[in-house]
Amino acid sequence: MEIPDPNRTGCPILNRDSDTRLREAWSFLYIERKQEYGKNNMMNTTSTETKPRGKKRTILGVLLRILLFLLVLVLITGAAVTLYMRYTQTHYRVRFYQELSEKVSGNIRLAVISDLHNREYGADNEMLISDVQALKPDLILFLGDMVIREEDDYQPMLKLVSTLAGNTPCYGVLGNHESERMYSGNDKALPEAFEKAGLKLLRNSREEVSIDGNTIQLIGVEGTAYGFETYGGREFMEKTEISPSAYSILMTHIPILFKTALSEYDFDLGLAGHVHGGIVRIPFLGGLYSDEEGFFPELCSGKYTLDRQQTLIISAGLGDSRPFPPRIHNIPELLVIDISRK
Ligand SMILES: [Fe+2]
Repeated sequence: MEIPDPNRTGCPILNRDSDTRLREAWSFLYIERKQEYGKNNMMNTTSTETKPRGKKRTILGVLLRILLFLLVLVLITGAAVTLYMRYTQTHYRVRFYQELSEKVSGNIRLAVISDLHNREYGADNEMLISDVQALKPDLILFLGDMVIREEDDYQPMLKLVSTLAGNTPCYGVLGNHESERMYSGNDKALPEAFEKAGLKLLRNSREEVSIDGNTIQLIGVEGTAYGFETYGGREFMEKTEISPSAYSILMTHIPILFKTALSEYDFDLGLAGHVHGGIVRIPFLGGLYSDEEGFFPELCSGKYTLDRQQTLIISAGLGDSRPFPPRIHNIPELLVIDISRK
């Protein structure tokens, strides 16, 4: 249907003198057409310079908004990471494990400290000491990397060992940071300093400890991921007799050794640290990275069952060897392992 133009003279239905009621009835069309006309007219009369300037302004505005958004995102992410880093430097969790064995008559409690890396939780580690003592362990085991290779002063670690060893027997192995200080940094006095503080180091050696009538075998193996033979680990393990009747705990710093070399020996419980839980832990996927296994390592934190049904527990550690990359979704941990009668 053709729409009449109320402005046009000679309109068959309406002209300027028509009835006002009819004019009102068609007024919405009139307004619409007027707007269309105005738009067209404006476009026609706008100078050719105005159009690109408007577009330029729009693109610039969008770019500025994107930049502002990215800046805010970076600032928020930075603040969140800094806060989380600070939190993981001052807080840890206590993670409990339960092991059952016919080789023990009652409950034996182990507290496990790994990868502390010269960190102090409270002045002189009072927070850590108080927690460990409150847990009343029968043994405190150190899985290595108490120091940081570049830091010459590790008195806080010696103090910690000395305080804890005052109440509870302390045994442990050395980590790669201790080895690097000793062999590359010429810090030959390091093992002796820890021994003097009260830590019995198991450097390819075995000790028997008696707890409430139970004999516990503690075996400590030294070596890097690729230097099991070089550091004498193979030779030691080949000649060591692990008694099948006494509960045996095999400790070494680097967990990959349990995959490449140690799983063929008969022990009850294996303990390792080193990987710091993979540093960044991703929900449902686990740790992000380890030096030995690369991305998404199999051995980085938690409990595993090895080839001969031995249990392996890997600590995510209590510290960091460097500030970056920071631990994400990965709170430092003190382990408590209860070995109870099956
Ligand atoms: Fe470490």
